[in-house]
Amino acid sequence: MAEFHPVLKFSELPAESIRRVLVEGRPVLLARIGDTVHAVSDTCSHEDVSLSFGCIKDGAIKCGYHGSRFCLKTGRALNEPATESIPVYSTRIDGDTISVALENPS
Ligand code: FES
Repeated sequence: MAEFHPVLKFSELPAESIRRVLVEGRPVLLARIGDTVHAVSDTCSHEDVSLSFGCIKDGAIKCGYHGSRFCLKTGRALNEPATESIPVYSTRIDGDTISVALENPS
């Protein structure tokens, strides 16, 4: 069973915003769309840079460097220059606490 790690208060992540957190030392990007919180790797698959310098665009995370977008549900690269997916992680919200499991969702 996946081990969930508490990372942030839900009330500290406004709708349509992103936040970089560390989960067991691994950089993870939280992205809230409406009341849903997605978690993906915070490292762009094109170059080794943080996606937290980007923004949410049309339900995807857009890299702030060269503009590739990644699906927040699947991690799939939606446009070049990135061609490889980024890992996605399971999230859970208990009351006001967002938790992330590093294993991929099943
Ligand atoms: S570093 Fe992200 S698209 Fe180039």
